[in-house]
Amino acid sequence: MIEIRNLYKSYGSGAGRVDALVDINTSVSEGELLVILGSSGSGKTTLLNMMGGMDLPDRGKVLFEGVDIYALGDRGMTRYRHEKVGFVFQSFNLIGELTALENVRLVADTVPNPRAAEEALKLVGLQDKLNSYPSQLSGGQQQRVSIARALAKRSRLLLCDEPTGALDFETGQQILGLLERVSRELGKTVVIVTHTQEVARMADRTVRMRNGRIVDDRPNPSPVSAQDIEW
Ligand SMILES: Nc1ncnc2c1ncn2[C@@H]1O[C@H](COP(=O)(O)OP(=O)(O)OP(=O)(O)O)[C@@H](O)[C@H]1O
Ligand SMILES: [Mg+2]
Repeated sequence: MIEIRNLYKSYGSGAGRVDALVDINTSVSEGELLVILGSSGSGKTTLLNMMGGMDLPDRGKVLFEGVDIYALGDRGMTRYRHEKVGFVFQSFNLIGELTALENVRLVADTVPNPRAAEEALKLVGLQDKLNSYPSQLSGGQQQRVSIARALAKRSRLLLCDEPTGALDFETGQQILGLLERVSRELGKTVVIVTHTQEVARMADRTVRMRNGRIVDDRPNPSPVSAQDIEW
């Protein structure tokens, strides 16, 4: 589904220059649950953003189903981000003035062939919270709304940046369980960025990063269920 070839990205210049990504080569298969691990500053978010068409590389390519997304131009890239990719962030990124249902609708209404917002919220177990505002929802519930928003788009690719970072252990585990279901039952391709080593146990494959480089990229022969992971 995604192929990354010789990708480089630096920020700043001179002595302040940071090589955030250095010669990254990897791929993501359709339906795969990929975990990207690495300590703070290792380049995980930068790599995820590159997959999502959110940042321009200095060099190299990101191919989505064979198409170089950074050669699509501004409009093409906006469309790619909007229609092909679902984003889930640590901080949920919901609109506070809109209910759960309205938050999901806002996105669903702008893509061709969306899943009904009610149905998307049901899939994440929030059928009873349709009319609640984010401030009336727990962190875990807010994260469910953001996952529902991605499901409403029917995008086959979900990019999740520290999706459990703002949650306590138990709630985080439930969110991982939900992402696992999204992967295993709905067949979505799910990429999870985290610095929690243990999360790699549920992955089909783990990419480890250090100082902007991939230092390890290997399949997991026996993924365990999210409910069996503790950290
Ligand atoms: N917009 C930016 N401007 C300047 N430097 C940046 C920018 N974005 C990232 N960097 C730098 O690039 C490097 C990689 O950052 P990145 O956010 O990808 O790390 P990360 O692995 O996601 O870290 P964390 O776990 O803390 O989120 C860091 O040194 C960071 O300071
Ligand atoms: Mg990050």
